[in-house]
Amino acid sequence: MHRILLDVDTGVDDALAIAYAVRSSDLDVIGITTCFGNVPVDRATRNTLHVLERLGATEIPVAMGEAAPLFHPSKEAYPAQFHGENGLGDLAFPDPAGKPVSTSAAAFMVDQIRRYPKQVTLICVGPLTNLAAAILQAPEITTLVRQVIIMGGAVEVAGNRRMHAEANVYSDPEAAQLVFQSGAPITLVGLDVTMQTELKLEDIQRWRELNSDLAGFLADITSCYIEGYRQAYGDRTGCALHDPLAVAVAIDPSLVAVQPMVLQVDLEGVHSYGRTVADLRPRCTDQPNVNVCTSVDAKRFQEHFMGTLMS
Ligand code: BDR
Ligand code: CA
Repeated sequence: MHRILLDVDTGVDDALAIAYAVRSSDLDVIGITTCFGNVPVDRATRNTLHVLERLGATEIPVAMGEAAPLFHPSKEAYPAQFHGENGLGDLAFPDPAGKPVSTSAAAFMVDQIRRYPKQVTLICVGPLTNLAAAILQAPEITTLVRQVIIMGGAVEVAGNRRMHAEANVYSDPEAAQLVFQSGAPITLVGLDVTMQTELKLEDIQRWRELNSDLAGFLADITSCYIEGYRQAYGDRTGCALHDPLAVAVAIDPSLVAVQPMVLQVDLEGVHSYGRTVADLRPRCTDQPNVNVCTSVDAKRFQEHFMGTLMS
């Protein structure tokens, strides 16, 4: 089985990604690290521990990570429109019995990657602050990690948090730039492909009909997320599956086509701060640093996602 470390800012689609990864028979989730992003980091940690309780997977260690961008204070309030004030669709739930481990997310990443050289795939579906901190602590992890799959950025499509900037990269652009330039083997699952995926109300109705605690929980939190999408994008009747698609790429890379690119994060633009910028010129001779997903078999992915979470 394929060893996975998940880095999350648990929100709704992060919760779906955790459930999908834990339920996948192809993946062995060896730990989850948390970051600020959709919600403050203590809330992301509480949400993550709760999701693991719902999954009956409390043996998976959770390490709490960074509370703010590495090099400057957070710029913005948290995006309640999609994930609710509490990050899980404002569903009330008791405090989890479990606690995070005593090491920080960055130290936990470093320990696990050193312990299993060339075996760990890191799936990052929040701001890249924890991974940047880990690379600053132990730069050699960029050669020891098997693969880094990142949900973030937008190369040829519009942004979502800002006109050009995707939320995870925008939340800590300097950290993202540090990670992209680190030499780690990166696959970028950006809005170019994640916005082609969709989970509809009919799909969550299928979860409700299962009459299981987990499926009912996933349906409850996702209905808020779908409503956020309906309000933000009038033409959509479902939500995008951003974070679950990053997990899917670890399970079955043939779901996407990738193109090696030279990729930078804009750290100075007035209107484009946090934008991922790829050098698409045919004569670009620089060494590509990121494999960017350019197309996805959305139907096959959605069937696999639903099949995994219906069983
Ligand atoms: C990303 O931003 C967050 O709101 C989601 O959880 C996802 O990781 C999409 O841009
Ligand atoms: Ca996320």
